[in-house]
Amino acid sequence: MAETLSAPQAERKKIIFSGIQPTGVFTLGNYIGAIRNWGKLQEDYRCVYCVVDLHAITVRQDPAALRRHTLEAYALLMACGIDPEKSILFIQSHNPHHAECAWVLNCCTQFGELSRMTQFKDKAARYADNINAGLFTYPVLMAADILLYQADLVPVGVDQKQHLELARDVAGRFNNAFGKTFVLPDGYIPKADEGARIMSLQDPTRKMSKSDPNPKGFVAILDEPDVIMKKFRSAVTDSEARVAYAPGKDGINNLMSIYSVFTGKSFPVIEEEFAGKGYGDFKTAVGEAVAETLRPIQERYKELMGDKAYLEECYRRGAQQAMAISGRTLEKVYKRTGFIPSGR
Ligand code: TYM
Repeated sequence: MAETLSAPQAERKKIIFSGIQPTGVFTLGNYIGAIRNWGKLQEDYRCVYCVVDLHAITVRQDPAALRRHTLEAYALLMACGIDPEKSILFIQSHNPHHAECAWVLNCCTQFGELSRMTQFKDKAARYADNINAGLFTYPVLMAADILLYQADLVPVGVDQKQHLELARDVAGRFNNAFGKTFVLPDGYIPKADEGARIMSLQDPTRKMSKSDPNPKGFVAILDEPDVIMKKFRSAVTDSEARVAYAPGKDGINNLMSIYSVFTGKSFPVIEEEFAGKGYGDFKTAVGEAVAETLRPIQERYKELMGDKAYLEECYRRGAQQAMAISGRTLEKVYKRTGFIPSGR
């Protein structure tokens, strides 16, 4: 894999990079907005995927929990179909080039542009007692993640769009100052009604998030079927009781998007299927479709977690493959910046 990525630009397959934070079990939002696409893309692209533990510590983490969540996230990505034989799958802190490149890019990023990042503003409000410098410069580390692999496409949910635009701006600025070094990445973001932003089941005006203090707001990929059913049955909807996609019906629109993604049915087909039926029947059907899709993922996850030696073999190899690629970019970056080659 590392070998083939170095093929000349003209004949190379497009490169994909994406990452996910190991801050808890992934939600249905992570799965629909991003991970579901990661597996599909590995057939046609050269894919590099990463469990971004360096990003996770911008919010205070318990060390033992972070270690556990990181391994779980790695196994869960594999259970969701990321094949370490087809893609490079690694843990961010195992590759020091990310932090090194981020430093150089920090010096090409303006305080003003980082101040405009909505995720920073949200998190600074949520974690007011720990507004650390890492939280502020988080998007620069994300830019380094992407740019080190010369990624063409970045499959993410819509909440990451602003960070992606920043990565493009920083890459363009570096290229202008020092000569073309980075590929400018594009987003690969699902359409609005195809899961770009899955909403909380309890407050459908807010994004579904794994850090939601109310567990009824999100479905975790490892939730048991009866828990999934309960969460969908108690999902907040309007009082109209008609299954139809319409502006302002945030709760039902969200459930329709989820059902559509899991069954492949279009909105008109769903509306017809539930014509004359209440929300209760619909919520049950959504819960069943989700539980059914997640069942094989959960089974595979359990198998993988039972074989820690295999996981270790995969993430160690992944880091080596990743470093072979990112090392070439970092060398170029250092040279262009004006650093004396260390010969390492
Ligand atoms: P993270 O860990 O918050 O989320 C991982 C992916 O899941 C998507 N996502 C959603 N999509 C739809 N609906 C939702 N409710 C929802 N919640 C999360 C996110 O958009 C994301 O694609 N900063 C990133 C991680 C990262 C990264 C990168 C991504 C670090 N470096 C480089 C791409 C490229 C993050 O916090 O994602």
